[in-house]
Amino acid sequence: MAEPLVVLSGVNKHFGDLHVLRDINLSVDRGEVVIVIGPSGSGKSTMCRTINRLETFESGSITIDGKPLPQEGKELAQLRADVGMVFQSFNLFAHKTILDNVTLGPIKVRKKAKAAAEKEAMALLERVGVAHQAQKYPAQLSGGQQQRVAIARSLAMEPKVMLFDEPTSALDPEMINEVLDVMIGLAKDGMTMIVVTHEMGFARKAANRVVFMADGQIVEQATPEEFFTNAQSNRAKDFLAKILTH
Ligand SMILES: Nc1ncnc2c1ncn2[C@@H]1O[C@H](COP(=O)(O)OP(=O)(O)OP(=O)(O)O)[C@@H](O)[C@H]1O
Ligand SMILES: [Mg+2]
Repeated sequence: MAEPLVVLSGVNKHFGDLHVLRDINLSVDRGEVVIVIGPSGSGKSTMCRTINRLETFESGSITIDGKPLPQEGKELAQLRADVGMVFQSFNLFAHKTILDNVTLGPIKVRKKAKAAAEKEAMALLERVGVAHQAQKYPAQLSGGQQQRVAIARSLAMEPKVMLFDEPTSALDPEMINEVLDVMIGLAKDGMTMIVVTHEMGFARKAANRVVFMADGQIVEQATPEEFFTNAQSNRAKDFLAKILTH
């Protein structure tokens, strides 16, 4: 069997006195879609940011495609390109057009020719349903459209794995599905994805596995069906009781 694409083993991290990641062990296979859920402050975002090396960690190891995370320099830039990340806030460059937002990384980091980068960017914008907005600026798009551009921008770097940290939680309800639909399409196309989300519809439709975190630990993991109908730990049961009543 092929080795997992992303492997965290024994990862520990502190913020001062706070032990925010406690002995995290997580392997994600190629093409697997893993949902991370858990109470606020449990370390979900920190874990994602650690995988992308936006945060350091003190012990343990993280490998992407068999290679340990580089510390700095050119290799770190390469790693960031291999690991796409989409945040709650879209972080598009306000003074650049939608098209330029998507071509910037491929031209600067992947050293693509402008014409080729633009052709690929247009295909990606088509895929996420905003190709007709290519010449506009981010502020002229809705939140859902901007988030889909952010996804296209990440995909333009041809990442090996995509991390999503609550990609729909800042959106108005009517825009959530258009973003989730793009993510479901990506999952179906075989993208390896780690997604922090409480959207259970997405979890049920697209996820292979749910990872439940509490207090910096992975408390349990199961298929979405198993987890949502038959969680084992009291922490998970309490958490589900809270989110299911909303
Ligand atoms: N840069 C930082 N400095 C100090 N403490 C931090 C920092 N970032 C996060 N923390 C703390 O680490 C803990 C985990 O935060 P994290 O953002 O990973 O949680 P989360 O599970 O993503 O929560 P939420 O569901 O609210 O997004 C929290 O107690 C948070 O206050
Ligand atoms: Mg978070």
